[in-house]
Amino acid sequence: MGRTVVRAARPQEQAETDALVGAAFSAEPPRRRTPDGPGTAEPIARVAVDEDTGRVLATAVARPTGQWWGGRRVPAAALAGVAVDLTARGRGVGRALVADTFAAAREAGASLVALIPSTHAFYRGAGCGVAGRRSVYAIGTHDLRALPRDRSLTHREATAQDAPRVAELVAAHGARTNGVLDHDERTGSAVPYVAERDGAVVGWCALGRRPVRPGHGGNYAVVVHDLVGADPAAELGLWRDLAADEPSAREVHALVRPGGLLEQHLPRQTEVVEDATWMLGLLDVPAALAARGYPHGLTGRVVLDVTGHGVLTLDVTDGRGTVTPGGTPSVRVGPADLASLYAGHLDPLTARHAGLLHGDDHAVGLLRTLLAGPPAVLDRPF
Ligand SMILES: CC(C)(COP(=O)(O)OP(=O)(O)OC[C@H]1O[C@@H](n2cnc3c(N)ncnc32)[C@H](O)[C@@H]1OP(=O)(O)O)[C@@H](O)C(=O)NCCC(=O)NCCS
Repeated sequence: MGRTVVRAARPQEQAETDALVGAAFSAEPPRRRTPDGPGTAEPIARVAVDEDTGRVLATAVARPTGQWWGGRRVPAAALAGVAVDLTARGRGVGRALVADTFAAAREAGASLVALIPSTHAFYRGAGCGVAGRRSVYAIGTHDLRALPRDRSLTHREATAQDAPRVAELVAAHGARTNGVLDHDERTGSAVPYVAERDGAVVGWCALGRRPVRPGHGGNYAVVVHDLVGADPAAELGLWRDLAADEPSAREVHALVRPGGLLEQHLPRQTEVVEDATWMLGLLDVPAALAARGYPHGLTGRVVLDVTGHGVLTLDVTDGRGTVTPGGTPSVRVGPADLASLYAGHLDPLTARHAGLLHGDDHAVGLLRTLLAGPPAVLDRPF
């Protein structure tokens, strides 16, 4: 095997990169990727190639998006489809490819990268930390009947014209919570619907189906890929209307946001059918710290010594932060752990107890307050 070069993927390499992704993740032959919808930012596709033979050894795609933190949208990238050929693993190809893809995403303006890892250690080495969980529950379709119905809602399939309004709904949802990605019109095999009230779009969902789990009955399970409402009545009404699939569907598989509306209204405990962690990386540490929102009514300064990134002073006032280089450090932390702290997933006191962070009580307490928020859920598919 010759020297490996990492570069932008070429359109004629699509079949090779699809085959790599299929070989890495699927028991099935790979499907073609769904085409990008209108207005979707161009993905950053990178490959590692054997210089002698021209063979594609590895592939990665970063899709530009935005992610909501503390009420503000931070420019981000969603990383997907990282796959290294079996014969090329364990030689640093994956590491070089991911570093190159992160650099390209940063150059394109992203301050953060979000991903669902199959292996934590590999991404931790690339500067990413665990940011939260994504728990998909099997909800009894019948149980959804306990939710309040919004009889003013009507449903229809979404069209491309709905995209700006749906993006607005997603942004309003993002401003209230952490980890939400921009609306993406591509829904793969899922069917997108909008809900209207008095002629105005007040909700959106993307629904798919999957085979029933053994012993659970019905003809199929409904899979909720995305669901957002403009107000609590619209959101709960959308969930409630999924009960219409009963009895063909006895279960609805959906991400249940901890502390969210659905969790509050479900009549009983549900069963987790999929659970994964997701990870966050700060591609540009000062920009990421400056772009997010912080709690209002709080003024404070933390001087961070971030391993490999130097010393940064973060001043927060009125919900905004400014970052300047230098200062006398009050906290010392590595980039992967800083990403977990940024996400509110790793508590600064716990981090200090574990030896992942060094700092005095004042700085640690302030950091805890600055980065506290609702559990961060990566709740847009990508
Ligand atoms: C995970 C994957 C991308 C790693 O690629 P690779 O080229 O073999 O990795 P590298 O040789 O660059 O390894 C970089 C570092 O990550 C570590 N690493 C790699 N794979 C690992 C694994 N499965 N578990 C734990 N650590 C791993 C390596 O030990 C190395 O660290 P070290 O230098 O401290 O030893 C590759 O094995 C792969 O394609 N797997 C299947 C698909 C997948 O899991 N993709 C990523 C998830 S989205």
